[in-house]
Amino acid sequence: MTEIIRIGMVGGGEGAFIGAVHRMAARLDGQFRLVAGAFSSDAQRARASATTLGIEPARAYADWQAMLDGEARRADGIEAVVIVTPNHLHARVARDCLSAGLHVLCDKPLATTLDEACALAQIARASQRLFGVTYTYCGYALVRHARALVAAGEIGEIRSVQVRYAQDWLSTPVEMSGNKQAAWRSDPQQAGDGGAIADIGTHAYHLARFVSGLDAQALLADLSNAVPGRRVDDNAHVLLRYANGARGMLWASQTAPGNANNLELAVYGSRGGLSWRQEVPDELWLAPLGDHPRVIRRGATGLSDAARAVTRVPMGHPEGYLEAFANLYADFAAAIHAHRTGESCTPANTFPTIEDGLDGMRFIQTALTSSREGGVWMPLR
Ligand SMILES: NC(=O)c1ccc[n+]([C@@H]2O[C@H](COP(=O)([O-])OP(=O)(O)OC[C@H]3O[C@@H](n4cnc5c(N)ncnc54)[C@H](O)[C@@H]3O)[C@@H](O)[C@H]2O)c1
Repeated sequence: MTEIIRIGMVGGGEGAFIGAVHRMAARLDGQFRLVAGAFSSDAQRARASATTLGIEPARAYADWQAMLDGEARRADGIEAVVIVTPNHLHARVARDCLSAGLHVLCDKPLATTLDEACALAQIARASQRLFGVTYTYCGYALVRHARALVAAGEIGEIRSVQVRYAQDWLSTPVEMSGNKQAAWRSDPQQAGDGGAIADIGTHAYHLARFVSGLDAQALLADLSNAVPGRRVDDNAHVLLRYANGARGMLWASQTAPGNANNLELAVYGSRGGLSWRQEVPDELWLAPLGDHPRVIRRGATGLSDAARAVTRVPMGHPEGYLEAFANLYADFAAAIHAHRTGESCTPANTFPTIEDGLDGMRFIQTALTSSREGGVWMPLR
């Protein structure tokens, strides 16, 4: 039997959002065990969180440096670290973890500036350690199927990519009235200069790239604030140009009433189109040109190997966010197992890497610059 992967977590303490999701995802396939953590910037809260999670007191650390030191002294120390803090700590924590010889699974965005991300990428490439970035949405079975359909030429040469990620939870200045998640997201010191463009725009950008297989060459962005006084954008419109002549449109908004987590992608090619919505994740629409549009259901027969590999329960039993997240963990586990034995690991749809994280930062920074300059076309590569 393969040895379980021992992980530590930085962030994700009591009351935090995504840390708990990571823990559930890590547990789903039984390949990881959370054994250590520095769960909060507040030492008391970090300890209390560790107790609730059943972490041995000696492995409940006041900060991440103490965790790296303490774990390095143990024969059963951690092999990988999950980083789920606000954005401004991602690169610092990740760099220290790599220097300690650990694999890293970091949430997005990779850093707060492109320079910081570039420096981290250099360290990661030289480290011989694995570096994953949790762009959650590429973990869905039908997203992987959509990607396989595009790659197989099912919709022909791509002409247009339309992606939107709309939410409404920042429609009022909730950051002023005690919403912790909103407070750091609207503080450039903690979030970086990007608001919606970094928080959700980067997810949309990655999803579009993952499915279309196209790298955008240039963009033009118009970022704005619907809520007066907010220090970062809460609405972003971005036009994209691709090397093959295709065009793209990305809308990311956190001030769009009626939208909870409305991430939607449509890709149109010379022979057909397809579309997928995160809120109805077990359906993928495929419209071959001139034929009836059809709905493809997760778990149906005839799906791609990529989709079948991450399908856990039969059609009609919904899968969603947690399973998608767990699929990234499963990919990461496969890579760690291969790394342990010195094999190369090239699963068909492996986890997003440091290069994807870096690409996301390039997108954010270029969009910020384009918008500041009044909405001009800027090269992405
Ligand atoms: N992949 C996704 O779908 C997704 C979804 C939501 C958030 N995120 C990303 O996850 C990260 C966290 O977001 P969130 O919504 O969970 O935020 P949150 O505010 O709910 O949680 C942040 C946690 O980090 C802790 N923290 C802060 N400083 C720390 C320090 N110095 N040491 C240890 N812990 C510290 C806080 O105490 C808190 O527990 C962000 O980078 C965000 O962009 C990703």
